[in-house]
This record gives sequence, C-alpha cells and structure tokens, in this order.
Amino acid sequence: MSLEEQRVLDACVDFVKQELEDGEKGHDWWHIQRVWHTARMIAATEPSDPFVVELASLLHDIADSKFHGGDEEIGPKKAEIFLKSMNVQPAIIKHVVNIIRHISFKGGNHKCDFDSPELQVVQDADRLDALGAIGIARAFHYGGFNNRLLYHPDIQPNMKMTKEEYKKSNAPTINHFYEKLLLLKDRMNTPTGKALAERRHTFMEQFLTEFHNEWWE
Ligand code: ADP
Ligand code: NI
Repeated sequence: MSLEEQRVLDACVDFVKQELEDGEKGHDWWHIQRVWHTARMIAATEPSDPFVVELASLLHDIADSKFHGGDEEIGPKKAEIFLKSMNVQPAIIKHVVNIIRHISFKGGNHKCDFDSPELQVVQDADRLDALGAIGIARAFHYGGFNNRLLYHPDIQPNMKMTKEEYKKSNAPTINHFYEKLLLLKDRMNTPTGKALAERRHTFMEQFLTEFHNEWWE
C-alpha cells in the first residue's frame, strides 16, 4: 500500500465510524471492522487489488437501503462523494461503487450484471458475518430493531421472494435463516470463503434444531 493509499484508508475509517455511529448495531463499525479483517484475510489467498478490497469493505454499508426507506442509490452516492473528496482515481471509485451496488443478497433471485475478484472477496467477507454465532446474534438484533416475531409456527419461509418482496418482508426472524442464511454456504465465491462458511453453517443448523426442540418441549 502506498503512503497516499494509506492516507485514504485512514480517512475512510474515520468517515465510516462517524457515519455509522447512530445506526443499527448489526451494521455498525464493528460489523465493518470484522468484514474488513475477513476480506483482507481472503484477499491474501486470491488475486485481487488490496486497495479496492479495503475501500469496498469499509464503505459497503455506508448507507444500507434497509435503513434508508429502500433507497439503493444513497450508499453508492455517499461513497462516491467521499472518494472524490479524497482525490481517488476515477477507475477505482467506479469499481468500489460497483461493488457497493452489487454486494447485497436481496432474496438472491435477481440477476447480477457486475462481477470482479474484489466483489467476490468482499461479498464473501460480508456473508461470513451473517453466519455462525455472530450471524445468529445479528439476525435477532435486526429482528428486535424491527420488532419482528422470533418465530411463528404457522408462517412458513418464502423461498421464492422477488427482490421487492424480500425488501418488504416482515416475517419472523427464524424464517430469515431459511430464506437467506442457510443458503449462503453454497453461494460463497472463493475457496477460503467456502471453507470458513462450512463451520458457521453447521453451528446455525445445530442452533435451529435446538430452537425447534425447545419450542415444542
Ligand atoms: P442483504 O444482503 O439481504 O441486503 P445484509 O447483508 O445487509 O442484507 O444483511 C445483513 C444482516 O442483517 C443479515 O445477515 C441479518 O443478520 C440481518 N438481516 C437482514 N434482513 C433480515 C431479516 N429479514 N431478518 C433478520 N435479520 C435480517
Ligand atoms: Ni455488511
């Protein structure tokens, strides 16, 4: 990393910490820090541009549409304005903004028209933070933030949601495991991501078995 790149990354850390200060705590600075750390680890095993990986990890949730009335442009726009203010090269800005635009799952049933090794790395890192013990904690925190039911025996998971239905869904949090979290293991992009997802997936399955056992005990 050049001194100039390091200067941009340091400023980016300050910017992200400040922007996310009052937000939902499953998408807070600590989530960003975990994703940043995991992305660097995965990037070390994949041919990818480390500067793009780090910037995209740091900025990927700068304004998540979930917390901005469904607006999917506000995050990419905020990131672009910040990167321009730091005089980052236009090609790098374009790449980072594209990653932010395409990283999200949103039901997993829509077509994605952008791909790059750096997107694959950051997407895997973000997905890993949705799995395992931390994934369970974040899911129930998000459910609580929206006052959702933990579980309802009569509300079945909907596996065929369009992107719009996924964004509007208000289903119990347990359904989110079937609608998204358990699907991620088979959608990991990189070998390192896949290996890390395996263990976290198994832990969530154990959790769900125990949850359902206790419900009817
Ligand atoms: P997406 O990729 O679906 O846009 P994110 O990757 O930003 O969403 O979601 C991150 C995390 O937010 C999820 O892994 C989960 O912890 C929480 N979350 C999002 N939607 C839900 C939901 N419907 N129920 C419970 N948790 C959710
Ligand atoms: Ni994220």
